[in-house]
Amino acid sequence: SHGYFTHDPGFTATSSCTSAITYIDGDEGLLYYRGYPIEELAYQSDYMEVSYLLIHGELPTAEQKRAFETSIRHHTLLHDQMENVFRGFRRSAHPMAVMIGVTGAMSAFYHKGLDNFDPQHREIVAHRLIAKIPTVAAWAYKFNEGQPFVYPQNRLSYAENFMHMMFSSPCEPYEPNPVLARALDRIFILHADHEQNASTSTVRLAGSSGANPYACIASGMASLWGPLHGGANEAVLKMLEEIDDVSKIPGFIKRAKDKSDPFRLMGFGHRIYKNMDPRAAIIRQTCYEVLDELGLRDDPQFKIALELERIALEDDYFIAKKLYPNVDFYSGIIFRAMGLPTSMFTAIFALARTAGWVAQWHEMLSDPAHKIGRPRQLYTGSARREFVPLDQRG
Ligand code: SDX
Repeated sequence: SHGYFTHDPGFTATSSCTSAITYIDGDEGLLYYRGYPIEELAYQSDYMEVSYLLIHGELPTAEQKRAFETSIRHHTLLHDQMENVFRGFRRSAHPMAVMIGVTGAMSAFYHKGLDNFDPQHREIVAHRLIAKIPTVAAWAYKFNEGQPFVYPQNRLSYAENFMHMMFSSPCEPYEPNPVLARALDRIFILHADHEQNASTSTVRLAGSSGANPYACIASGMASLWGPLHGGANEAVLKMLEEIDDVSKIPGFIKRAKDKSDPFRLMGFGHRIYKNMDPRAAIIRQTCYEVLDELGLRDDPQFKIALELERIALEDDYFIAKKLYPNVDFYSGIIFRAMGLPTSMFTAIFALARTAGWVAQWHEMLSDPAHKIGRPRQLYTGSARREFVPLDQRG
């Protein structure tokens, strides 16, 4: 358009990539991991199996699952000196700030097995990250609470171990509730991967230069923290607290439709889904299970969420814009019912998404066809012009 920079109509930014891991059909509301529908994995599989599936492309045999789980269990501890990294933060630091810092610091503790182009090295890095991130997340919580770090117990399942590290204390016995652990494991599955979302694209782009994998995963956590991405589950709870009563819902719906008002309905809408996010329906069902288990079915915020969803789904604006509840709409209610502070919601999303991040990083480095191209741009700046010395400027 400037004469210099005519844009070839065929020019497209090379920011897309190929991947064989996750398939999404936004119009039909479909989500498949390696071809398996999310509904079947959520109700019939577990997070360990799904992590193996995302990385290796097939569901594990019994022996492969046993070996995978054994490897994960034997990487749950952090290097003892990493406690000092936690202690370098203010007690009030947001858990995501701590997770990003500690995960990035892993690149200073693990020097062996970092040849990103060696598949065996990549596999150990993947196991180490899937194993350690729950410990990092739980310790970030304990650090906030001013409680002692709780070490992982390898006899427990993955979700039970996380609950143990979160809620155990040296003062009294604690056994994870199996119903809640199963619900948490299902939520991990639902958050495990989601194609080329902002945080996964960040990991892939960072990893495409061959950068240290721990630093790459830390960059994905940074992107996920945004309130329009993984930070939305925390924002949903704050929104429900602000609504406070079902009678105020119409006012918030009105604000969400008002272009002059920056307010958006948190937990609604999606860049790809123009139908119900299949994960939202499963999380709503899981919400019922958790609240029933805890005798909290009359949870006021759950009631507000159900009524908000009902009204929005009948509203012409939301119907026209194809805005439906997404994965973040109900998850925060479950986490709060489990006793987790809102500051930990995105940390749990990051914990669960680690399997997808490492699987996508592993795939991207395994095959040049899957490498993310160096993204280009459509230039919209000034045409070429001569430099103006300072004493001649206005
Ligand atoms: C996640 O990419 C992924 O896969 C992400 C994720 C994953 O698993 O990794 O699925 C996780 O990030 C889920 C999304 C969580 N974010 C939120 O819930 C925050 C609230 N939602 C939005 O801010 C919004 O919906 C986005 C950012 C998610 C998508 O924004 P887009 O791309 O603008 O959505 P769109 O193009 O479909 O919007 C269509 C219209 C726009 O209005 P117009 O410009 O056409 O006038 O709908 C409006 C938007 O302004 N709109 C909303 C809205 N979301 C979109 N209006 C009110 N409330 C909303 N939530």
